Amino acid sequence: MHLGVIGFGSIGRELFGLLGGLDIARITVLVRAGRAETSSEALQQIAPDLVARTTFVEQDADFFAAAPDFVVEVAGYNAVEAYAAKVLETGTDLVVVSIGALSDQSLHDTLLAAAKAGQARLILPSGAVGGLDILAGLAPAGDMTLRYFGTKPPKAWAGTPVAETVDLDALDHALEFFHGTAREAALAYPKNANVAAALALAGGGFETTQVTLVADPEATGNAHRYELTSPLASVSVEIANKASGGNVKTSLATVYSVLREIRNRLGPIAI
Ligand SMILES: NC(=O)c1ccc[n+]([C@@H]2O[C@H](COP(=O)([O-])OP(=O)(O)OC[C@H]3O[C@@H](n4cnc5c(N)ncnc54)[C@H](O)[C@@H]3O)[C@@H](O)[C@H]2O)c1
Repeated sequence: MHLGVIGFGSIGRELFGLLGGLDIARITVLVRAGRAETSSEALQQIAPDLVARTTFVEQDADFFAAAPDFVVEVAGYNAVEAYAAKVLETGTDLVVVSIGALSDQSLHDTLLAAAKAGQARLILPSGAVGGLDILAGLAPAGDMTLRYFGTKPPKAWAGTPVAETVDLDALDHALEFFHGTAREAALAYPKNANVAAALALAGGGFETTQVTLVADPEATGNAHRYELTSPLASVSVEIANKASGGNVKTSLATVYSVLREIRNRLGPIAI
């Protein structure tokens, strides 16, 4: 495999620490302008065994010219907007971790059209949440309702709209500060849209997926809970994630969900 990686931040670096031993012949990484050298130095520390096989490029033209045969995006919504359609149009399967970007219906439709045109597949990993398999499995049966609760410590909501009206540092109880559809949540809290978007895309869609966001001083990390009802099954899922060392906002489960997609591509069995 010639693996293409877009982004080398918290998830990207953690991911490289897990790639050793996999049958990957070559890796091309697209980083921001001016970051290739420092990224290369960081890789020496993270995964010295991958250095000889890895090239960091700063220009998207160089990334596409390298023609990786499987690409993972671990960069951000802007990177999905800038590069995802082109990757798919050139016939390359793409794993997108910044799933919240797809709450923009127009970008969503553009990527689906690009995947169709390129006969490529847009792969959405489970990320920080789980259970997408049963949601996606039951979705065609219709009549699905899903209520999602996203809970984080008050500090994790700093810089978001709730911080403008609530003194988060003074919070002494769990506060449910947002109720709305997954579409409304993505508009109001775009930086926290990945999980709600993944649930909406796997299940009943952005308009029917209900989202509640919670700031809880008792929370030690990011927790995700949802209740699904469908004519075929009722499902309750609760996940308490451990944060990655490099970025408290990113759970390690997300990194491992991207690793899973790479392993599924390489291995004799996909699960
Ligand atoms: N699906 C999920 O459940 C889930 C969970 C956590 C994070 N995420 C998403 O994953 C993405 C990455 O998260 P992170 O914690 O690694 O973020 P990060 O900020 O630590 O790293 C992102 C890296 O990508 C680089 N980057 C950004 N835009 C780029 C571009 N256009 N070209 C090249 N490099 C670019 C940045 O310079 C940075 O180094 C974010 O969009 C985040 O929202 C998804």
